[in-house]
Amino acid sequence: MATGEARVVRRLPTSQARRGLTPQPGLRQVMARFATGVTVLTAGGEDPHGMTANAFTPVSQDPPMVLCCVAKAARTHAAIVTAGSFAVNVLAADQQELAEHFADWRRPDGMAQFASVAHEIGPKTGAPLLTGALAWLECELDQVLAGGDHSIFLGRVVAAGRGAGEHALVFNGGPYHDVAGRSRAA
Ligand SMILES: Cc1cc2nc3c(=O)[nH]c(=O)nc-3n(C[C@H](O)[C@H](O)[C@H](O)COP(=O)(O)O)c2cc1C
Repeated sequence: MATGEARVVRRLPTSQARRGLTPQPGLRQVMARFATGVTVLTAGGEDPHGMTANAFTPVSQDPPMVLCCVAKAARTHAAIVTAGSFAVNVLAADQQELAEHFADWRRPDGMAQFASVAHEIGPKTGAPLLTGALAWLECELDQVLAGGDHSIFLGRVVAAGRGAGEHALVFNGGPYHDVAGRSRAA
């Protein structure tokens, strides 16, 4: 075992976790080391819904494709499958409140959860596009791949754009951060 792996395993909380990475709390702590941007995935149609997600990645330039991973238990899962499409809203540094809102299970279903959220309806998919987002993509759902207790939604990008903001909201497992856009010297 490499030195780095040994260090990680020693930090896992339970004796069961020391034998492997299966228990979710241990794995979550490890994954928290991976800093990501923060998105809100939205689906339109008759049952619109939105959810904070950081399991998002670009996949292909030609054809343009992205993927996101959504828990099967999430309401957003059914909303995206039903709509057959989704939008990805990449949050700006000043949109932490939106990240918290769309991760809060107590928010209402349907359009009510967007009542206090400035948005417009995506012309290609009908999914809400959040005002002030750093970037947005509208996607047709291309494939649903098995991913354990999540599904991997592969989306074909049918429209995309950038907002006026510059700095991204960043999630690193604990408090949210912003990125000031500083370049590191080579
Ligand atoms: C920073 C952050 C990132 C998250 N990323 C994901 C993700 O990629 N996939 C996922 O299924 N849930 C993710 N969640 C959890 C969902 O946002 C949360 O469970 C939400 O309430 C689900 O809403 P729904 O059941 O109404 O769809 C994340 C939460 C936070 C705070």
